[in-house]
Amino acid sequence: MKKPWGARFTEPLDQDVLAFTSSIPIDTALYRQDIFGSIAHVRMLAKVGLITQQERTELVQALEAILKDIDVGVFGFGPEQEDVHMAIEEELTRRLGELAHKLHTARSRNDQVALDLALFLKEAIQRVLSALKGYRVQLLTLASLHTETPIPAFTHMRPAQNVSLAHYLLAFYELAKKDQARFQRASEGLAVCPIGSGALGGSDLPVDRFYEANLLGFDMPTPNSLESVSTRDVLLDFLYAVATGFVSLSRIAEDFILFSSPAYGFFAFPDRYCTGSSLMPHKKNPDVLELIRGRASLAISSLSGLLTLFKGLPMGYNRDMQEDKRHLFASYPVYEESLRMTTALIGGMKVNLERLEAMASDPCLGCVDLVEFLVKKGVAFRKAYELVGGIVKACEASGKSLANLTLDELRQFSGLFDESALTLFSPMAQLLARQSYGSPSPRAVRHQIETAACNEGIWLA
Ligand code: ARG
Repeated sequence: MKKPWGARFTEPLDQDVLAFTSSIPIDTALYRQDIFGSIAHVRMLAKVGLITQQERTELVQALEAILKDIDVGVFGFGPEQEDVHMAIEEELTRRLGELAHKLHTARSRNDQVALDLALFLKEAIQRVLSALKGYRVQLLTLASLHTETPIPAFTHMRPAQNVSLAHYLLAFYELAKKDQARFQRASEGLAVCPIGSGALGGSDLPVDRFYEANLLGFDMPTPNSLESVSTRDVLLDFLYAVATGFVSLSRIAEDFILFSSPAYGFFAFPDRYCTGSSLMPHKKNPDVLELIRGRASLAISSLSGLLTLFKGLPMGYNRDMQEDKRHLFASYPVYEESLRMTTALIGGMKVNLERLEAMASDPCLGCVDLVEFLVKKGVAFRKAYELVGGIVKACEASGKSLANLTLDELRQFSGLFDESALTLFSPMAQLLARQSYGSPSPRAVRHQIETAACNEGIWLA
């Protein structure tokens, strides 16, 4: 078929060049947005008198019919087509003849693709926000059951201090709130609508960009036609949110891989979420979590790929920009899927209370509480630190556990110790002693969960 842009050419496009330049394998995912955009465009053209009401009705009906036919697979895209925009216009021409030639009035594929992308991102952000909410609610639900379940937290992967399992899960909840905020910020860039920017310099025709922008759910048109077709900042913001969100997921995945390993055994995941080994009959592997951790790399490379694509790109539309969608589709669907998988895994996760208790009972985890016990008695922090360090050293030398120290033995290091100091080797006593804002004291964590549940609009029994 002769290309709509073929008027000044003397020979048809080379078939290899067509295959090389076509974006059909990637941008057909935008067909719905493309048709919505075209319908709004037709309505705007009719409103300003560039087409008649009759023409408007025919064009809208035909576009809606094409949409339905693509949805049910009656009409498909083929390798002979250059991109989704032209494929749909060509189909419209087949169905309506001459009338279809009016559709592209005061529009270019440059502003059209920017619009399609903006419409796609609007939906994608809503989908991610809803998946993120599901993830947060799952974390909160599990957290609400464990405000009094001590779990060691680690620095340098060495046991540091006990927190509660709820406090630990809420750390990921807080991270997910930040992920949510990044997507919300990304959506702010979607308040303005690029359509009507034309190829780059707008149009001599009396189009109403405000009307069309409003029809499509935007606040107003973009203020600069050249910038509108030359940048993809909303996509950059979105891919930044995807990359950081995926990094968050990779961290919980890593923790769960580690903490469900035989060495820790804090958590176990149902068999239906795990995989086996083809050789070693005893293996139950966390492949889902490993894939989530691994696939986060796709999001990082998508973000850096898009940044690289735009680095030094001259102002104006350049065909390089067509590649933006590869980066979008390489990471966004994988992120959304990974979010839902992580949520499902948390939903099915079993907590091994015995293992947690055994690990949390390591008396070293009470050392900071012991130091602060002395500080409360008036000892300077550095002095108290030194004193407790001396106790640890002496125990290590004698092979005695800190937990087995008698009050008399403890008092040999400082007369300020009393019975209550000995209780600080108990994980629950440590949690109860925490006072600072944001710490794992069960009362504070319960309050935090209640506030969070209220913000999420959910009720936790
Ligand atoms: N397929 C192109 C893209 O995705 C659409 C815009 C093409 N514009 C052009 N003048 N070649 O970016």
